[in-house]
Amino acid sequence: MPKKTIAYFYDSEVGNYHFGYGHPMKPHRVRMAHELIVNYGLYQQMKIYKPKIASKQDLMKFHSEPYLNFLEKITRETIQDNIEDMKQFSVGQDCPVFEGVYDFSKICASGSIGGAERLNEGSADIAVNWSGGLHHAKKSEASGFCYINDCVLSIIELLKIHERVLYLDIDIHHGDGVEEAFLTTNRVMTCSFHKYGDYFPGTGSVNDVGVNAGENYSINYPLNDWIDDATYVDIFQTVVGDIMNKFAPGAIVLQCGADSLAGDRLGLFNLTLKGHAECVKFVKSFNVPVMILGGGGYTMRNVARLWTYETSVLLDTDISNNLPANKYFEYFGPNYKLHIDALSSPQHKNENTSEYLQNITAHVLDTLRKIQSSPSVQINTGQPGTGGLNKDTNFTRSDIDSSEKDNVDITKDKLHLEGKDERVVDIDSTTQSKGEFYDGDKDQDGDVAMS
Ligand code: FE2
Repeated sequence: MPKKTIAYFYDSEVGNYHFGYGHPMKPHRVRMAHELIVNYGLYQQMKIYKPKIASKQDLMKFHSEPYLNFLEKITRETIQDNIEDMKQFSVGQDCPVFEGVYDFSKICASGSIGGAERLNEGSADIAVNWSGGLHHAKKSEASGFCYINDCVLSIIELLKIHERVLYLDIDIHHGDGVEEAFLTTNRVMTCSFHKYGDYFPGTGSVNDVGVNAGENYSINYPLNDWIDDATYVDIFQTVVGDIMNKFAPGAIVLQCGADSLAGDRLGLFNLTLKGHAECVKFVKSFNVPVMILGGGGYTMRNVARLWTYETSVLLDTDISNNLPANKYFEYFGPNYKLHIDALSSPQHKNENTSEYLQNITAHVLDTLRKIQSSPSVQINTGQPGTGGLNKDTNFTRSDIDSSEKDNVDITKDKLHLEGKDERVVDIDSTTQSKGEFYDGDKDQDGDVAMS
């Protein structure tokens, strides 16, 4: 089978933002991943893009204008004058105001929107944006370190030409923002595997299956602590295999949150890179256009390891377990290896018994049995009188309506094909000496390492 064309999105500014002292979310992890990807030479096999920054209009396909206006204007100096707005938009605690919060969020979202556009135009089979996957953000509310929901925005873009889009989420946290956005539509199936029970965000019961036309199109697989590779891969393949049969999506968005790895600062699962990436490999095997996104992940060195390894898996390229020299090499001590071990002490015993998993899997498969098999699946078009897309989301009404009228005749204008993202072509010569990355002659990144 010919190799897939991969469009890889990266903005070297992303690592310069900082959520504040002691905050577990560190954008620097994306730069660390990028450095490894470059120094393993993986970039040579991909089309590298610096995303064009999304406009407010682009973001308003999901988010409300007042919320975006607030994010755009708020600074640490003006917090005291905007206490009511801070409360209304849930900004302040987990989602702090930090310098450049709106610009940072736009960078993250832009790669996911641009990636979906590359998939729509057919210039890539797979798009990758490790800055994305910020799945908790709501229409008018920040949540769980997420301000702009790039997952939702990329799905909205894909809906322009695909009748059905599948969203898969292997972050340890429930993909609540994405589920909520598409709760009432059968054009998007969401499926999240997550820790459930006394854990953020608290949603994602196996009984939560969507509502109205979207009933049975929200799939939730709640898990207990310390799930291991073999168990996780088994349930993932069983459930996703069945979804692919029944739902037959035209495109897939896969959120690859790294907080499901063993040893994550906030996570309580026990996956290694190999188990996590096996899910990526399985999704890729269906030969459907895929948008690959990042997500959570709070032990930075392991986030970088994982997303580098998953990039190699997408490229069908074996890479050495010995990490290459790179700018952040000292972060990877003491062994300087790519792969990590699962936790093996008694307190990390898998708390998901076979009986529990059989029960949940049976429940999920029963939910999936209730949807009609493709291609006879009834598509709710979102048109008046058909139940519609989630009224609360206010997204892409005009885009989706127009694409439904003439699915076949997609114009370039509609797909925003022109002048969108900057293709980076000269990375090779600039990375050979010190592993430095430049976006082009005029854009030398001024990295400052953060811990
Ligand atoms: Fe997470």
